[in-house]
Amino acid sequence: MTIEKPWLEGKLDSLLKEAEELSNLHEGVYYEVGAWAPLKLIVLLLYLDVYTKIIPKQIPKHFDSMVYVDLLAGSGINRIRDTGHRIIGSPLIAATASHRPFTKLFFVEGIPERSKALEDRLKTVIDKNRFEVYHENCNAAVDKIVEAHLKKRRSHHLAFIDCQGLDVDWATMEKILKYPGDLIFTFQTALIVRTRDYPDRLNKFYGDDSWKTAKSGDDFLRCYEDKLREYRDIVINIRIKEKRRGGFYYHLIFATRKTKGGNPWLQAVDLIKNRIENHTGDAVKYAFDVLSGDATKLDWFVSGGDEQDNLQRSLFDF
Ligand SMILES: C[S@@+](CC[C@H](N)C(=O)[O-])C[C@H]1O[C@@H](n2cnc3c(N)ncnc32)[C@H](O)[C@@H]1O
Repeated sequence: MTIEKPWLEGKLDSLLKEAEELSNLHEGVYYEVGAWAPLKLIVLLLYLDVYTKIIPKQIPKHFDSMVYVDLLAGSGINRIRDTGHRIIGSPLIAATASHRPFTKLFFVEGIPERSKALEDRLKTVIDKNRFEVYHENCNAAVDKIVEAHLKKRRSHHLAFIDCQGLDVDWATMEKILKYPGDLIFTFQTALIVRTRDYPDRLNKFYGDDSWKTAKSGDDFLRCYEDKLREYRDIVINIRIKEKRRGGFYYHLIFATRKTKGGNPWLQAVDLIKNRIENHTGDAVKYAFDVLSGDATKLDWFVSGGDEQDNLQRSLFDF
């Protein structure tokens, strides 16, 4: 199986053409992000490429459906704070950039103005009966998602949980992690150290006080990864960090179960991890280029340079 650059570029191209129109719907309702945000969306896009090729092959033998869960979904469009550029967000990427369509997509957004904009924007790209937007706190909405789908079907899910801070309680995570699925989680490594003065919030985020001995952001991260390992054998992170000392940084955590097939998509994660961690500055720039209109820059993430070509040949040709 090979990552399909032309396919992805084609998808992005049409998505980006729609972005302008989608931005005008509910004009002004965006989620403001820093220049570092597009990178996680590119990772989601690349992961979707692999995930939505592999999981459908396991239907109907192992699963009967493939669902997407986005607990902190935003408004569908993000605006880059410093430049004013508008880029598409995770819900629109998941709704459109999959090889086989998800059986159902579930989105949660707690700010009504954003959730309404998201719903209307989604309606312009996919059929209304293929998705659900919950206009409420995700720690409450999770029960509805479990009830509506996860509990009833033999489904495999991809959960994208894009935290700004300590938004999602561990109890919520467990409700999802109980069911088969993969996770991409934004962990705010630099910010979390500053939340030490809110032990009650941290206790909810971790489900206990296991964070108490953590001193650095990386300690907090390791502690969270240990919690995830209670449910998933494989937990990997990608560090996204500004070069300057004390600069902003966060981690994307991937979590999945070991499979008999040797987890082919993990090789995709390794490839992307390698590329991003070794060239974060370039990665940030190219992610922005891709999501603001230049789909050809996607190439940089999956090829470029002999080292990368070799890696890609060995990792993606499975
Ligand atoms: C980082 S943004 C999501 C951006 C989105 N993933 C994208 O790519 O466009 C996080 C969103 O989660 C929402 N949010 C924060 N805490 C929440 C909660 N507990 N329940 C529901 N939504 C929440 C915020 O209003 C914000 O729009």
